Amino acid sequence: MRFVSPELFSPLAILVLILGTPCSCAFGKTENNVKSAVFLSPKFELGPGSVANKYYDDVDFPRGHIALKSFNAEVVDEAGNPVPLHETYLHHWVVVRYYQPKDVSHSSYDVTHERYDGHRILHDSDYIMVRNSGICQRNFLGQYYGLGSETRGTATDVPDPFGIVVGNLAEIPEGYEEKWMINVHAIDTRGVVDKMGCTECKCDLYNVTEDKHGKPIREDYKGGLYCCYDDTHCRLREGFEGPKRSLYLRYTVKWVDWDKFIVPVKIYILDVTDTLKISDDSKGNFEHDCLTEYEVQSCSTGLKDGNGCNHVKRTNLPMQKGGYVIYGVAHQHSGGTGSTLYGQDGRVICSSIPSYGKGKEAGNEADYIVGMSTCYPRPGSVKIIDGETLTLESNYSSSRGHTGVMGLFYLLVAEQLPHQHFRHSSRSSSFFTNINSIID
Ligand SMILES: *[C@@H]1O[C@H](CO)[C@@H](O)[C@H](O)[C@H]1NC(C)=O
Ligand SMILES: *[C@@H]1O[C@H](CO)[C@@H](O)[C@H](O)[C@H]1NC(C)=O
Repeated sequence: MRFVSPELFSPLAILVLILGTPCSCAFGKTENNVKSAVFLSPKFELGPGSVANKYYDDVDFPRGHIALKSFNAEVVDEAGNPVPLHETYLHHWVVVRYYQPKDVSHSSYDVTHERYDGHRILHDSDYIMVRNSGICQRNFLGQYYGLGSETRGTATDVPDPFGIVVGNLAEIPEGYEEKWMINVHAIDTRGVVDKMGCTECKCDLYNVTEDKHGKPIREDYKGGLYCCYDDTHCRLREGFEGPKRSLYLRYTVKWVDWDKFIVPVKIYILDVTDTLKISDDSKGNFEHDCLTEYEVQSCSTGLKDGNGCNHVKRTNLPMQKGGYVIYGVAHQHSGGTGSTLYGQDGRVICSSIPSYGKGKEAGNEADYIVGMSTCYPRPGSVKIIDGETLTLESNYSSSRGHTGVMGLFYLLVAEQLPHQHFRHSSRSSSFFTNINSIID
């Protein structure tokens, strides 16, 4: 584990100035205390055409009562060089927070036990997954962070004085400790017959008719995570050979130690495939069904819906609890042309647009999504009302068909603004003592 020195002049400092927070003097302290660390996942090996879908429990992560400020990741080789997406496609990585009983040693845990299916983490009785704030349920899309090919060009910074607060001992159940799990799904497309088809996990290219549990795959399922599980192989060009290589997910975490001036944000992940049902409990609660993946039919063969070759998928999602949007970003796959989240009255809460690479080098690979634009509304300016029904819209170009695409939307929401938060957390004079000591 290597530590990089705290950064004094990060982009966060600039953001604070732009956003014009009510009292930037109070946030200078947080800013100057941003810590940063770079970690490597365990090593995984990939040869041409092969797939790794790995789950790493108890990964290196900053410890203690902290507020996360950003998380960035990329695939690197043994020499630490970034690997371009046209060689190793990073389908996704996901970071999950969980509690583990203290008396269960890491080695006693059976790593072959399947707990995760695509973006669905299955139940494991010893472990308690610490979900984000929703709105998919149970173990679906409960991660804290997660992106795919767009990782290198997508901002994840949480502006001051906000932060994702973790590691609070008071919240961890007796006898448990907080841990972090990383899932990495990568596909080596060197020498394959159809790079885009392999990254879209087309079942015929993987010659797969059964899922990883040996269950037959539905006839009408053309592609997606059920066809590119760990150790499957995408079809290679006749006679292609290439060396196996060792790869890592290198991830950079920034954080600050917790203090009472940090305003916590909640993480929401909305899924355009989420279909809602009123649940049977007769309390009027909703049941979410988040499939995470969907198919885009080519406009030349698919049903015409009046949008030409713009495939539009929408869903309506009631938010039990609202708040102020601090950050927003969508996740789409190649072919995506943008995603927008609307309020109940039709106002735009956030629009996130992919950028495609134009070259060969890592971070600028032609035809791949190499970044998603993000929203950083001035805190207080974009509010979701308690009980408001949002509409999520995800657009893809359907000039060709796509399988296994996604339309997710990440939101960071603060239930209080800084001045409200301070009023709550500083009824005593210690607030002023603290401000003074910061200015000094
Ligand atoms: C595809 O799978 C079938 C049955 O598992 C096998 O007989 C066949 O050789 C495979 N084809 C290729 C190209 O790998
Ligand atoms: C998605 O498509 C709809 C319908 O054509 C359009 O109104 C909307 O602006 C598009 N959104 C984005 C982000 O491109």
